[in-house]
Amino acid sequence: MSTSIQISAPGKLMLLGEHAVVYNRPCLVSAVDQRMHVTLELTTRDKFELNAEDVNIKNYQKPLSEIGGGEIPKGASFAEMAVKNFCEKYQLKKGIKITTQSQFSSLFGFGSSSAVTVCVIKGLSELTKISLSEKEVFDLSYKTILDIQGKGSGFDLAAAIYGGTLYFVTGGKKMEPLDTKGLELVVGYSGVKADTVTMVNLVKEKMIAQKKVIEKIFDYIAQLVEDARDAILKKDWRYLGTLMDYNQNYLEELGVSTEKLNRMITAARKTGAYGAKLSGAGGGDCMIALVSKEKQKLVQEAIQNNGGQILELAIEAEGVRFEE
Ligand code: PMV
Repeated sequence: MSTSIQISAPGKLMLLGEHAVVYNRPCLVSAVDQRMHVTLELTTRDKFELNAEDVNIKNYQKPLSEIGGGEIPKGASFAEMAVKNFCEKYQLKKGIKITTQSQFSSLFGFGSSSAVTVCVIKGLSELTKISLSEKEVFDLSYKTILDIQGKGSGFDLAAAIYGGTLYFVTGGKKMEPLDTKGLELVVGYSGVKADTVTMVNLVKEKMIAQKKVIEKIFDYIAQLVEDARDAILKKDWRYLGTLMDYNQNYLEELGVSTEKLNRMITAARKTGAYGAKLSGAGGGDCMIALVSKEKQKLVQEAIQNNGGQILELAIEAEGVRFEE
């Protein structure tokens, strides 16, 4: 039995439906061609060891008996809880050493935590020869995310596992692949790192205070996602752009957009994007613009002129895979 393995999973971009998807609505998510790489090793040492330099974790160690307990640094929490959940569920009692290395900055909001979680669970199943279906990898990864964050849809895990573009419903109730070939996105980073949990809690507060209104907004967003799925099937990018604009309006109503994101989004629209919106929890991170090939340069420059950083990447990337 091999004792060491290399595995990678893609980051993701939310196309439509963020926040509503936490409340039993659908969303559209695409995997991006920037990957999280993880090396996993079973050891004879009686401890969990982690190196994750991208998030400032160096030579972190814990006895196996203490895994998941005590103080866990933020950068270690997903790997550690994923190991804990796997070991508990499958009665694994071996030392485990993990090293992570990301192709993308954890600042961008591409889902580095979810990608690590998926790599750890899938990797441990391979190392221990405990065969898990993709749905089983999803379910254990989703438990891990909920253990740490309390709330979340799991959309980012689905992108990390299956890759491509997915129509996704909360908790993996539906996960259907969609062909988005020909869909050209420009991605702009706002320069501000957003905290997903803070933004999800902000919306939760609104849900408590104004339940009926927020439920209606989520119903509208769900309709936009359904129409967007049809638009993708028909490759009607112009209409998809219009739906993204509507989605952005609702996100602004929810109070999760920022002035900087709004400026970048407006600039993209003015220079000929079919549509533009924030992507993810909001409060910072990235915006996306749907743009024809001819207009791409113009839109990129407009976003840069408004303080955004262009991130060169492609969507529809491959899901989790073993590396040589
Ligand atoms: O901040 P991100 O990119 O991880 O996106 C969060 C998306 C939410 O819908 C707000 C939360 C979720 O788990 O779906």
